Amino acid sequence: MTIHEGYLWHPCMCVLICLCTAALRSTGTAQHFAYLLNTSDYRILRMDEDHDRMYVGSKDYILSLDLHDINKEPLILHWPVSQQRKTECVLSGKDTNGECGNFIRLIEPWNRTHLYVCGTGAYNPICTYVNRGRKPQEYIWHLEPGKVESGKGKCSYDPKLNSVSALINGELYAGVYIDFMGTDSAIFRTGKQTAMRTDQYNSRWLNDPSFVHVQLIPDSAERNDDKLYFFFRETSAEMGQSPVTQARIGRICLNDDGGHCCLVNKWSTFLKARLICSVPGADGIETHFDELRDVYIQPTQDTKNPVIYGVFSVSGSVFRGSAVCVYSMADIRQVFNGPFAHKEGPNYQWVAYTGKIPYPRPGTCPGGTFTPNMKSTKDYPDEVINFMRNHPNMYNAVYPMHKRPLVVRTNVDYEFTTITVDQVAAADGNYEVLFLGTDRGTVQKVIVLPKDDLQTEELVLEEVEVFKVPTPITTMKISSKRQQLYVSSELGVTHLALHRCDVYGEACADCCLARDPYCAWDGKSCSRYSTSQKRRSRRQDVKYGNPIRQCRGFNSNANKNTLEMVQYGVEGSSSFLECQARSPHAAIKWHLQRDNSDRRKEVSGHLCVVTLY
Ligand SMILES: *[C@@H]1O[C@H](CO)[C@@H](O)[C@H](O)[C@H]1NC(C)=O
Ligand SMILES: *[C@@H]1O[C@H](CO)[C@@H](O)[C@H](O)[C@H]1NC(C)=O
Repeated sequence: MTIHEGYLWHPCMCVLICLCTAALRSTGTAQHFAYLLNTSDYRILRMDEDHDRMYVGSKDYILSLDLHDINKEPLILHWPVSQQRKTECVLSGKDTNGECGNFIRLIEPWNRTHLYVCGTGAYNPICTYVNRGRKPQEYIWHLEPGKVESGKGKCSYDPKLNSVSALINGELYAGVYIDFMGTDSAIFRTGKQTAMRTDQYNSRWLNDPSFVHVQLIPDSAERNDDKLYFFFRETSAEMGQSPVTQARIGRICLNDDGGHCCLVNKWSTFLKARLICSVPGADGIETHFDELRDVYIQPTQDTKNPVIYGVFSVSGSVFRGSAVCVYSMADIRQVFNGPFAHKEGPNYQWVAYTGKIPYPRPGTCPGGTFTPNMKSTKDYPDEVINFMRNHPNMYNAVYPMHKRPLVVRTNVDYEFTTITVDQVAAADGNYEVLFLGTDRGTVQKVIVLPKDDLQTEELVLEEVEVFKVPTPITTMKISSKRQQLYVSSELGVTHLALHRCDVYGEACADCCLARDPYCAWDGKSCSRYSTSQKRRSRRQDVKYGNPIRQCRGFNSNANKNTLEMVQYGVEGSSSFLECQARSPHAAIKWHLQRDNSDRRKEVSGHLCVVTLY
């Protein structure tokens, strides 16, 4: 029997034992923000890569951290509420520490020198300007004196209610609760133009929403067609059924001025649709992941068509799990261009509206491609506005690409809470690397590979324990410039490298088996792959993780943490003994063992090809 690489063995019946590491390598260290602040609820992370800073909002504090090393000379702003406000808040029945703080919920760039910042202000939202200077070297970081203003309609009162916001052309668009009681939810606009909102207490528009994300996505080259998309979950009460949570995508035209006859100062272009993320169950009934938790929007070459990633969970009494679903703008637009949902009255079911649809089609932006002669929504016919008030819902739902989730986790003791995605160029193509934060303080680095027409293969490349105490990850942001992932939770902020190729060991096969698109074997070590480097000496195979092809002729040191798998070689045959070690971090090691013998002999090299004579 011959093992390639010139390894000779006497003709015999023998057993080959393949030892592989199958477990994830315990991975490492995250850099924590260790400044001794008496604060919590780190939630807002605003990247400023031009200045190499990250602005962070927590309870009572606004921080400016160095992207390179978040502990290096942090700039710290304390912005608590007055003692009087705190007392009033407590007297109104709220909790001293949990609710009567100033929880920062919005940090937006305002102009070249200032940021716009809002906090819950102990159940009395407030906003102000922070001077961060022109250049980071100036180390300017202070509140603009005498510039505190009301944050109503910009930030919720209750820190437990999620809000989202976007500052566009000096207008602040926010998905918030605008009252103390937390019952009046709205998509609100404040700024130079007239204030706008969703129809108040109209549960067809919004029904106890929890806002997750907001993003401007252009529809065409014509700026007047620009739409702002809101991602949220809300309660859906169908006739005769108990209320359930559903995930939604909603949108408005940026240049919506409201109606003329009715819907005055209210959106006249607001539409929403259901986002589906489900898997077929054993009984054929779909299991829906309806609790939208986070959204990441992956830009593409075409600004009109970013790719939308959503993280969903489900926490029913029988079933618990989470999933990642991916949506295309083409599918989303098709739903918004499709039938409207219609309901005759409270005791009817939702059906597809089949009557005459007024012109311009409800949801169309004024002054855009299809409405060049109507400069404002105030010019729209009354029938359009009336139609909008009662038909904010699309009849069809948006399904994910390939009609199924990209990643699913069930029967595990954790859920995904956050997502961010990085595009990585590897030797055999481009990959989307998913970073998925969990509710137990870890981040999983995952890639999903197409296997054949319908199947995919998911690989967890690493799972990093970011926070020592298990705590839900609240926010994640990537700095491409720094090649770092920044992560926050109730407890703090940390960052970790997007890739740590050296943890995969020094062997070509280990590096290859890791199948990490960031990493390739360069002839000496496992290191960051770059397309500009010489091809010849780089070894990488993300798709198949096949060290036989890639690492012929390269030796290696094998690994610890082994798991045994036995492969039988039959005399007189030639076989490819596959070590089922196509999991990341697997290290393979071959041992030869004759029958009738307990002794094993290690075979050097990683080549699993054996020819038996
Ligand atoms: C930290 O903050 C909590 C509430 O915000 C307060 O009760 C406690 O006294 C503070 N501790 C210190 C050391 O300031
Ligand atoms: C930026 O805005 C702040 C707050 O309105 C203002 O005080 C400051 O002068 C502005 N700076 C520039 C460069 O426009």
